[in-house]
Amino acid sequence: SWRAGSLSGDAGCGSVIGVTGMSVAKTTVDKLLKGYDIRLRPDFGGPPVIVGMSINIASIDSISEVNMDYTITMYFQQSWRDKRLAYGELNLNLTLDNRVADQLWLPDTYFLNDKKSFLHGVTVKNRMIRLHPDGTVLYGLRITTTAACMMDLRRYPLDEQNCTLEIESYGYTTDDIVFFWQGGDDAVTGVDKLELPQFSIVDIRLVSREVRFTTGSYPRLSLSFRIKRNIGYFILQTYMPSILITILSWVSFWINYDASAARVALGVTTVLTMTTINTHLRETLPKIPYVKAIDVYLMGCFVFVFLALLEYAFVNYVFFGRGPAQQKKINERLNKHSLTLGVFSLCSQVDAYGNILLTTLEMNNEVMPSDVGSSVSDSRNSVMSFDSSGVQFRKPMAPRDGFSHHSLDRSAMRSRANCRLRRRSSKLKLKIPNLSDVSTIDKWSRVIFPITFGFFNLIYWLYYVN
Ligand SMILES: *[C@@H]1O[C@H](CO)[C@@H](O)[C@H](O)[C@H]1NC(C)=O
Ligand SMILES: *[C@@H]1O[C@H](CO)[C@@H](O)[C@H](O)[C@H]1NC(C)=O
Ligand SMILES: *[C@@H]1O[C@H](CO)[C@@H](O)[C@H](O)[C@H]1NC(C)=O
Repeated sequence: SWRAGSLSGDAGCGSVIGVTGMSVAKTTVDKLLKGYDIRLRPDFGGPPVIVGMSINIASIDSISEVNMDYTITMYFQQSWRDKRLAYGELNLNLTLDNRVADQLWLPDTYFLNDKKSFLHGVTVKNRMIRLHPDGTVLYGLRITTTAACMMDLRRYPLDEQNCTLEIESYGYTTDDIVFFWQGGDDAVTGVDKLELPQFSIVDIRLVSREVRFTTGSYPRLSLSFRIKRNIGYFILQTYMPSILITILSWVSFWINYDASAARVALGVTTVLTMTTINTHLRETLPKIPYVKAIDVYLMGCFVFVFLALLEYAFVNYVFFGRGPAQQKKINERLNKHSLTLGVFSLCSQVDAYGNILLTTLEMNNEVMPSDVGSSVSDSRNSVMSFDSSGVQFRKPMAPRDGFSHHSLDRSAMRSRANCRLRRRSSKLKLKIPNLSDVSTIDKWSRVIFPITFGFFNLIYWLYYVN
């Protein structure tokens, strides 16, 4: 109905403009273009042409980190006054066919930081020429331009970028042409209805200045907008999976240490998954040399996952590898002469008859049955036996009647010497943790890993979000 209304409006206007009006318009345009010299700017030799610019942003199509640019589609309008095109006969604004633009002088505006731009050409070139009675020309274009925007990705993806569109005159210096934003801060419209998938526009700024080159100084307008990346996508795609994979790697600490297959598989899988997440991320980013915020996080997670795997390697080493073997060697050295019993208790519990009060003693399970057997046969005053699970202490026997005092003294002296030897070695022994209890390593890991990871997260988010 709007179209019908406008048509009937035209019909109504017909009476105003009519056939005569049309011929007046025709003669007016003919007169304007006759003798018009496209080569000379308006007011040639006089004051500079003042060109007002305004932009209506239709869309920002993409912002690419890989290419460091963004693509924007806009209605770009320039208006200036060309006295040669003033007409008084007709109090009408004349919107002419776009091809008339080829016969008029136009400002040689260009975008300084564009990589590739084009004027839309369907179905005809998307441009507009409108003349006003006072000679003001309004020239509108629909342009899509890909403009360079150097981004600092150090804080990626928690970053803000500042992208600009620089508009400058290519040939005319400020002596011939002057640019200004028409309507001041309202010169750029359409920003509030822009929808960007990954960003939100925080601020927009218009600047008008002059830049100096060797060929003179040129007018330059710049439109800059600060865009803030929306973290939501990265939370879902990168941060959450990384956190979950890291937590998954801790499951290993709750699995029995002799389940090598389960724990190694878990460790390796989590390490590989972290690598995959890292690789996927890399595909969407340029090959920049510095470390980005997301790299820090992923590397952190990777280190945690890796350490969880190493933790198992350590547990395994301690339980099956050289660790216990070394301790066994130490014990063997200590056991050369007698039993390795609870070190301190052995020394203090020799009774008047030289009998070792084994009832109160506990044996370390590292004691080798052969050592125990030989020392028992030496002293002949206690009986040891072993069950299948390891060394167990059994009841002592009463001292024999035939034991001489002399042999008693000798055995007491020997036992004292052994005590000294063992006290010295007990210091050495204390330094080595009770390695036979590997589950303590896991127990500590269960606490230390989550706490450290929580701490890492705290520092990370405090540093990067402010
Ligand atoms: C011509 O355009 C100017 C500026 O856009 C406007 O103010 C004026 O009303 C228009 N004149 C007519 C007759 O439409
Ligand atoms: C973007 O950077 C330029 C140059 O540093 C600055 O003049 C402009 O104000 C910035 N724009 C915004 C929106 O902060
Ligand atoms: C070492 O650990 C084992 C197994 O848990 C335990 O029986 C033994 O008493 C511990 N030894 C020491 C010296 O703590």
